[in-house]
Amino acid sequence: MIIPLSKNEIGPMREACKVAAQVLDRTAKFVEAGMTTYDIDNFARKVMEELGAESTCYNYRYGKLVFPGYICISVNEEVIHGIGTMRRTIRPGDIVSLDVVVRHKGFVGDNTRTVLVEPVAEPVRKLCEVTEGALYAGIAAAKRGNRVGDISHAIEQFIKPHGYGIVREFTGHGVGRSMHEEPQVPNYGKPHKGEKLRPGMTLAIEPMINMGTHLIDIAEDGWTVLTRDRKPAAHAEHTILITEDEPEILTVL
Ligand code: MF3
Ligand code: CO
Repeated sequence: MIIPLSKNEIGPMREACKVAAQVLDRTAKFVEAGMTTYDIDNFARKVMEELGAESTCYNYRYGKLVFPGYICISVNEEVIHGIGTMRRTIRPGDIVSLDVVVRHKGFVGDNTRTVLVEPVAEPVRKLCEVTEGALYAGIAAAKRGNRVGDISHAIEQFIKPHGYGIVREFTGHGVGRSMHEEPQVPNYGKPHKGEKLRPGMTLAIEPMINMGTHLIDIAEDGWTVLTRDRKPAAHAEHTILITEDEPEILTVL
């Protein structure tokens, strides 16, 4: 059972998402060749502190694992859940996905952007553009009365002509008072299936798209998701609100 946010909850949810968007935007602009992914993580940590927000990723537990970073930083063949480290230096041509999830006054905002560190090879740029396009196709399908499967299907259809791999093991999700709520929002699926979308529902829509195979591996650290063929992957994400009319993107500046 998915309980939409009440009118009183939407205000603070909007605020939390705005903070998440600010952290992401400032961190994205900070990224440069020559720095390590640890530097990026540390920068994001400071921006969160400045804005009075808390990282939802830091100390996030999954079984016995504890996530040690403040945001997820995933470079090239890393799809999601990469951990900032002094051992990885950003180089020209890299694509760096920054997944920022913050808690602010009891609500969670979740958003991701893949940053291009120029000069980026044309096919890689295309992958990033199409991934972002798929996100917006998914958002456009997130109208009241539609179902979760309509979002999933829209994303899948958008990706299909490009032949990219759609990651299956991880999905978008409900988000609100906690980071992961019902429903799951897969990036592929059948139209008219799944939960009905109702005003007040808040969803994180997040296509994770691989240049090659959709298959993934998990790295030694237990967190980092890698493409099995080690070709690049891109990720884009917004938190949105289902309204009476068009969906509202909450993770905007
Ligand atoms: N946006 C990611 C998600 O929805 C954030 C994961 S945070 C981590 O799963 F702690 F799990 F890394
Ligand atoms: Co998410």
